[in-house]
Formats: sequence, C-alpha cells, structure tokens
Amino acid sequence: MESSKKAQHVQRRAVLRAAVGVGAGVALASALYAGRGLIPVKTLTPQTQPLEAGDRFVRATGSGKGAVITPSDLPLGGPPVLAYPLDPATGVVKDGEAKNAVLLLRFRPEELDEASRSHAAEGAVAYSAVCTHLGCVVSQWVAARQVLLCPCHGGQYDPRQQARVVALPPPRPLPQLPLRSEGGLLVAAGDFLGTVGPEV
Ligand code: FES
Repeated sequence: MESSKKAQHVQRRAVLRAAVGVGAGVALASALYAGRGLIPVKTLTPQTQPLEAGDRFVRATGSGKGAVITPSDLPLGGPPVLAYPLDPATGVVKDGEAKNAVLLLRFRPEELDEASRSHAAEGAVAYSAVCTHLGCVVSQWVAARQVLLCPCHGGQYDPRQQARVVALPPPRPLPQLPLRSEGGLLVAAGDFLGTVGPEV
C-alpha cells in the first residue's frame, strides 16, 4: 500500500515536471514570436511607394489638404507649400513615406539661378522637405530673406539657388525635384537630384 502511494506520488511529479516543461516551451515560443513583432518591418503599401516621375502633387496640410496643386496655387515669392505626391493612375496620395514630402515654391523665372530654372516649371521649383542635417521637416520660412528655415537647429536654404545652404549646420542642399507642367498641373519630371535627408 505504502509502495503504491509512493509510485503515485512519483508519477504526479513526473506529470507536473512535463507540464512545466511544456509551459516554458510555449512561453519561450511566445516570447520569440512577440520579439519578432518588435522588429520594425517596413511594409510597402500604395501610400509608402516612393515618389516617381509623372506624379502630381496635393497639399499636405491646411484647409486645402488633399487638393491638387497648380502653379498658380503657389504664392509668388513664397512661402512654400508642403505637398505629397499623387499617383495619377490610382489616385493614391503617397503620404505614408516621410521622404516623399516636398516643398513647392514659385518665383519669377529671372529670380531663379540657371540651374534651379532648368528644373522649374512656370517658375515653380520643388525640393525635398527633409533636412539634410538630421532629417527634420524644413517647415519654416523667413519672408524677409526668402529662405527656408529648419526649426530643429536653424539650418537655412535658399530655394532660388537650388536650396544651397545659407546657414549651418546642414551639410548640403535640399535635393531639387525636377518639375514640368502638364494640363495645368505640376508634375514630377524625374527623381530627386540627390539623396533625400541625412546621408547614412
Ligand atoms: S535637422 Fe535641420 S538643422 Fe538640424
């Protein structure tokens, strides 16, 4: 009788040990699975597709957000309009990728230097909105000097001269985006003329 009780006890402990082992295994598997979820995976969607030639532009902010932009929508001499590309084939606004943000401005053609003018359309020029220093959005405008200002560290760019740096710390200009006009709309005529954002 005594030996039978002992046998039952040993059996119960073995079952418990097995259960703990399985539980730990499940917990480990769950942890690995959850861990996989912590690794940022970039999912390509229509909204995160990169800007490409032929895209139109829509306003990124404000009451007119989503409106397609024509050259005459841009105030002459600034300030810039922040925009995202629109795929004309699908109607999708590519606003899921920060590097697609563009600054659109318009000047009298004679105010633009030759290089800027060669990529302009009806006086409109486009530049990446991502600061080449540490990647902030270049969101401010110094009207008195007609220069773009990054609020993070005070970097400034001249949009009439291919966004050359006029106040440090940005290490290089904002890359220009060639434009053309088509059917009264502004259209991307190619890719950015340089790396968007900070070099990595
Ligand atoms: S991120 Fe623009 S000046 Fe530093």
